[in-house]
Amino acid sequence: MKLVVIGSGYVGLTTGTCLALFGNSVVCVDSDESRVETLRKGEVPFYEPSLSDMMKRNMAENRLFFTACMAEALSGAEACFICVGTPSATDGGADLTYVERASRDIANALKANTKPDPQNTEPMLVVVKSTVPVGANAKVKKWIDEELGGSGVEFVMASNPEFLREGSAVRDFTEPDRVVIGADSEAARERMTAIYSYTEPEKLIFMDIPSAEMTKYAANAMLATRVSFMNEMANICERVGANVDSLRKAMALDSRIGGKFLYAGCGYGGSCFPKDVRALRDFAGAAGYDSLILTAVDEVNVRQKKILYEKLSACFAEDGGLEGKVIALWGLAFKPKTSDTREAPALTLIQSLLDARARVQAHDPRAIDETRHALGERQGLLYTHDPYDAANGADALVVVTEWDVYRQLDFERVGKLMKSRLIVDGRNLYSLLEMKKAGFRYHSIGRTAV
Ligand SMILES: NC(=O)c1ccc[n+]([C@@H]2O[C@H](COP(=O)([O-])OP(=O)(O)OC[C@H]3O[C@@H](n4cnc5c(N)ncnc54)[C@H](O)[C@@H]3O)[C@@H](O)[C@H]2O)c1
Repeated sequence: MKLVVIGSGYVGLTTGTCLALFGNSVVCVDSDESRVETLRKGEVPFYEPSLSDMMKRNMAENRLFFTACMAEALSGAEACFICVGTPSATDGGADLTYVERASRDIANALKANTKPDPQNTEPMLVVVKSTVPVGANAKVKKWIDEELGGSGVEFVMASNPEFLREGSAVRDFTEPDRVVIGADSEAARERMTAIYSYTEPEKLIFMDIPSAEMTKYAANAMLATRVSFMNEMANICERVGANVDSLRKAMALDSRIGGKFLYAGCGYGGSCFPKDVRALRDFAGAAGYDSLILTAVDEVNVRQKKILYEKLSACFAEDGGLEGKVIALWGLAFKPKTSDTREAPALTLIQSLLDARARVQAHDPRAIDETRHALGERQGLLYTHDPYDAANGADALVVVTEWDVYRQLDFERVGKLMKSRLIVDGRNLYSLLEMKKAGFRYHSIGRTAV
């Protein structure tokens, strides 16, 4: 099939590359021309395991192309996937500006392609993969119809929200738990079935379009709720002398609960959970429903993202405060195996530390460029390419992202490099015993301080 993917970010580039892998001819369109240039050189503009090799292979075998021109891309195509961003608007709702632009561009390209492909007389299938509120697919249809006017060009629509996770995007796309499809017609349903013929048919879950739109938000909200719930338990544990890790292990073995998304930490970040919880609450509110759970999930998370700063402040309360202190910070990405720093707890922490006139020596295996881009060059903020360099001369070390590289470092060496042996761990990476033996003062989440 000839397919088009609109938006070449984490979702679009993974979608395009994986669909090419299964033998389709795929054109990825991005409105950012510099990104298109980077992609044409075979470079992935962010870190995603195994994506780069797969992309280069597909390009070399002439199945994957990049352009900024929608009309060129859509010529002769059977389906196009909208994968552009849907960030939070200032009121917390989903900002559909990029989706609207893409929809109108699709319509204008369809109108401009006056030479129909004799091999392909079926109407174009427009698939919305971006995470969009209930009713947004209907808006996409309306925007396309408005641009098409009375041109007689036909199209059908499907909602196909994406569930991939950064860090395992390729595997999630090629071996999905399920594929959710809301289709407006038999033609759309058939085309979607053909596109996903690489996966087991029982994994294709068909439904109406509003339910498909809603499923994505419900899944993310459930996962975010589990995280905020465990952070709430951790905060209670700390105050009553219980250990949240013991709780988690026991809860995980309860088959009604299961073990995923039960880790307490310093708050969730990323491009999905924060914005999707807020957007769901927003469109629920617009429909006349005040979601108390979603409000609490978000508020607990906003509070949790301040917890490392509060712990550090408390540690230095009787030692002149944070001003002038050197803080080593391990982990900038919002989670391991990605370079994404959108809504990352590390950014909140760095901002607070710099406001308190502390100096930060930050390390991350992949996300330094993104952090620089997000925060700009800041006085008092230094990046290092080695975790030991970050610890050099530090008054405290704070762990924000649980990259594997931090799990088994030489703590004797870390301790010798630091000015004082103090660790604040936002991911409970180390055992209390190990830290005690290594002679560190150690504060973690939902566990007694050492
Ligand atoms: N990142 C994830 O883990 C993930 C997972 C599931 C779903 N989603 C959802 O998928 C969507 C995309 O997320 P992402 O993280 O890939 O975004 P992203 O910001 O990484 O990429 C979006 C891309 O779209 C391009 N773009 C914007 N407007 C365009 C237009 N009119 N025409 C062509 N290109 C355009 C941008 O230049 C950018 O390259 C969002 O709705 C998000 O919520 C993301």
